[in-house]
Amino acid sequence: MMAKEIAAFVVNGQKYDVIIEPHMLLVDVLRDSLGLTGTKYACGAGDCGACTVLIDGKPSLSCLTLAITARDKSILTIEGLAQGGELHPIQQAFVETGAIQCGFCTPGMTLSVKALLDEEPEPTRDEIGNAIAGNLCRCTGYVKIIDAVESAAAAMRDGGRR
Ligand code: FES
Ligand code: FES
Repeated sequence: MMAKEIAAFVVNGQKYDVIIEPHMLLVDVLRDSLGLTGTKYACGAGDCGACTVLIDGKPSLSCLTLAITARDKSILTIEGLAQGGELHPIQQAFVETGAIQCGFCTPGMTLSVKALLDEEPEPTRDEIGNAIAGNLCRCTGYVKIIDAVESAAAAMRDGGRR
């Protein structure tokens, strides 16, 4: 039998001690152990990007990440973006630009975009396309998403929250 242990996870700036087993995936710790169901689970195979979170600022597929490898690292999920009841500028731009339809891809997409804009405040449309290449959207055709990212980037350059 696999040994259970207590591991510390830092999610959205808050530390949690979670009982885990060695085979547990990060997506299951986030959704089932911590109740952070904003992180979506779809393909479970690394193909859709719905489960994307940031680990130490880097987009990571939580369905392919063993939870134990993320212990003590800084994890950002979609629940950590809005602050004090205010949407993050990326979320605001997605809403205003019509870049959300069913919304299933949106949490993972938003976090991939956040990682991009943290590195590159003024990306080209090609750079935006590359940054979200691993995030499948069945609804929008991507054009409005890329429009939203340009709009968010402009808002953030104009002094919006990062
Ligand atoms: S659920 Fe992780 S990539 Fe699809
Ligand atoms: S809005 Fe439906 S999958 Fe992207």
